[in-house]
Amino acid sequence: MLLLAFLICFSFCNSQQIIHLNSLKGYNFKNPINSKPPYSVYISANRDSDDILSQVYIKSESGSLQNLLYLKNSSKNSNSNLLAATEIQENSFLISKLTDYQLYSLTGFLYITNSSQADDKKFQVYDVNQQFAISTEANKDHTLVFLNSKSQNHSSTISSWLQSPSCLVSMYQGFPQEDQKENLVIFSNPAPFFTQPLFIPHVEKFEVNFEIFHFKTSGSMKFDISPEPFNFDGYKTTAYRTTGFYMKSQYDNTNRTATVSCLRDTSYNGTTGLLIGASRVRPYSTVRFDFDDGPHYILDLGIRGINIEKIPKSLEISTNGTEDGEVYVQYLIWQDQLIPSTLAPTTTMLPETTTKGCLGIFGGGILMIIVLFNFLVIF
Ligand SMILES: *[C@@H]1O[C@H](CO)[C@@H](O)[C@H](O)[C@H]1NC(C)=O
Ligand SMILES: *[C@@H]1O[C@H](CO)[C@@H](O)[C@H](O)[C@H]1NC(C)=O
Ligand SMILES: *[C@@H]1O[C@H](CO)[C@@H](O)[C@H](O)[C@H]1NC(C)=O
Ligand SMILES: *[C@@H]1O[C@H](CO)[C@@H](O)[C@H](O)[C@H]1NC(C)=O
Ligand SMILES: *[C@@H]1O[C@H](CO)[C@@H](O)[C@H](O)[C@H]1NC(C)=O
Ligand SMILES: *[C@@H]1O[C@H](CO)[C@@H](O)[C@H](O)[C@H]1NC(C)=O
Repeated sequence: MLLLAFLICFSFCNSQQIIHLNSLKGYNFKNPINSKPPYSVYISANRDSDDILSQVYIKSESGSLQNLLYLKNSSKNSNSNLLAATEIQENSFLISKLTDYQLYSLTGFLYITNSSQADDKKFQVYDVNQQFAISTEANKDHTLVFLNSKSQNHSSTISSWLQSPSCLVSMYQGFPQEDQKENLVIFSNPAPFFTQPLFIPHVEKFEVNFEIFHFKTSGSMKFDISPEPFNFDGYKTTAYRTTGFYMKSQYDNTNRTATVSCLRDTSYNGTTGLLIGASRVRPYSTVRFDFDDGPHYILDLGIRGINIEKIPKSLEISTNGTEDGEVYVQYLIWQDQLIPSTLAPTTTMLPETTTKGCLGIFGGGILMIIVLFNFLVIF
């Protein structure tokens, strides 16, 4: 009984939620919004017809009505992707005279949060429906929430990242849970690769596939975000000390494999770091990392990560048994110190076999000409 009361309270008192529009019932059914007013509503519905949106209403118990097209339109800022919250003061529900089938065709969703959060200037909600730039101020904390309904697999690509060394950034799947422990960090900078958090001066372009995700930032940073997909497979990293992110999304129900080429200078030693996270994966699911010149590592998804004292020419990431789930990998390429030439281990030179092979042939050719020449002179 207590447990039931707790569960009911939990679902009603939980002020934040996502309502998928395709889950609504039609035929004037009163679809409840289980949040305690006052609360704030944001909408992301970029692939839905205006006609259908205009026939779905948020209706309060006292009878005031607003349709979702109006809500969508009025939350848009003309010159930015920052959304304005719509405040709901009374108990309300969602209602439409359309059929269940017509509503089922919708792809957008509502994000509901408590109004004190929405009034907070540090809490910002963006709709990723075109490319735009994000920037945060020094000495300020921000929570940046991103909604994405633009494509079927919710691609958001982040690029041109710049971050001040004193700034802390963490990325999370979903909306910010009030209980901070519920928020799983899937990418951060500084990141826990070594014994102390490591600030990485460069962040590579990456894609995430979430309908909602958020960043917590403290300090000044900026990046561009766009609703385009980005093909990680075949990507080349662009700095000697860098980090990036790769995810196998739930919208890709294969055992996904991707290869990234690492910018490296073999006269230096260094470390490759891998931090792993996962959700909704089957037990015994694994992620495999193959260095082009060996070795490979097969890691259980319960493991937080590994560091390998080597930088490969290319790194292949593949997942096994994770078809319906998600796997997150933050990788680090960290060039360390110049290797004294006498100590240069031959193994690090091995990947360069193609160039060596060519030189070998030329060297042999030159040697043969000299031998022939001597032969001719002698006779
Ligand atoms: C959308 O908002 C703009 C101003 O923000 C207004 O001019 C326009 O009439 C609105 N359209 C609808 C369909 O509400
Ligand atoms: C609203 O949400 C914020 C952040 O999650 C939380 O700190 C605050 O207590 C909530 N306020 C209410 C009235 O629920
Ligand atoms: C997302 O969809 C686009 C277009 O259908 C496709 O090119 C891309 O590979 C997909 N990305 C993922 C991560 O599934
Ligand atoms: C992924 O790998 C698992 C385990 O090897 C296998 O059972 C499954 O059929 C594979 N899925 C696809 C789509 O290849
Ligand atoms: C690189 O070489 C230096 C000097 O030999 C050593 O101290 C350092 O631990 C090495 N780093 C890695 C990642 O192997
Ligand atoms: C996937 O995992 C299963 C065991 O769960 C294993 O038998 C299979 O060989 C693995 N496949 C690959 C491609 O690693």
